[in-house]
Amino acid sequence: MAGLVIANWKMHGSLGLIEEFSREWQLLPPLSEVSVVLCPPAPYLGAVSNAFEDVALGAQNCADQVEGAFTGEISVQMLSELGCSYVIIGHSERRALYSETDAQVAVKAALVIAQGLHAVVCVGETLEHRDAGQQDKIVIEQLLGSLAQVPCENLVVAYEPVWAIGTGRTATPAQADAMHGVIRSCLCEHFGEVGAGIPIIYGGSVKPENASVLFECDNIDGSLVGGASLNANSFWQIASAASAGRA
Ligand code: PGA
Repeated sequence: MAGLVIANWKMHGSLGLIEEFSREWQLLPPLSEVSVVLCPPAPYLGAVSNAFEDVALGAQNCADQVEGAFTGEISVQMLSELGCSYVIIGHSERRALYSETDAQVAVKAALVIAQGLHAVVCVGETLEHRDAGQQDKIVIEQLLGSLAQVPCENLVVAYEPVWAIGTGRTATPAQADAMHGVIRSCLCEHFGEVGAGIPIIYGGSVKPENASVLFECDNIDGSLVGGASLNANSFWQIASAASAGRA
């Protein structure tokens, strides 16, 4: 499968950044064997959609309802209308700061897939769990809880160990590869043979300097990039490493 590299800008950026990023991006060589997705903050989806031709558009979250009196929420249908083809669901920041549960994540993922978009379901253990050697158990529980009633079409799983997000501390390629293997087995058990084709991407302090070694791992199909995705050149280097890892 081709690599998949997704930029998660979180609550960063501005119209100025989008202009600068797209200007720099257009000067960089085109990429092959890799799908590139930009997930800006929701108010900038239109601007990003207008500024780029060769990247897909994604959102960082969506409502767990189809429509109605839910002030401040954004439905999957609205995201679809704005051109989104991906939605990140259950990022650890949403789980930790906004108390999102596995059950809510599963509802959102099912809505995203029903609308024909790709759901990027995030899972990952805390440092406490890893230090206690419970990472596999925790991630499997989170994954199965987050996939209840979720079909496998258009599903992407992002493994993001919480202790590696924004900390500069990346999981070693061996740690990431091993967990992706655990996730792959779980997906195959849950969905049957088709589980083998679901992309599993890694996130947590991915940078141009560590991207190549991560993408050399058999079980790593791409990455979800936070901080390093705010700079066109850094993000291009990561996407380019993913493309080389697929060649
Ligand atoms: P980071 O964030 O690359 O800044 O660690 C990744 C993420 O939270 O998706």
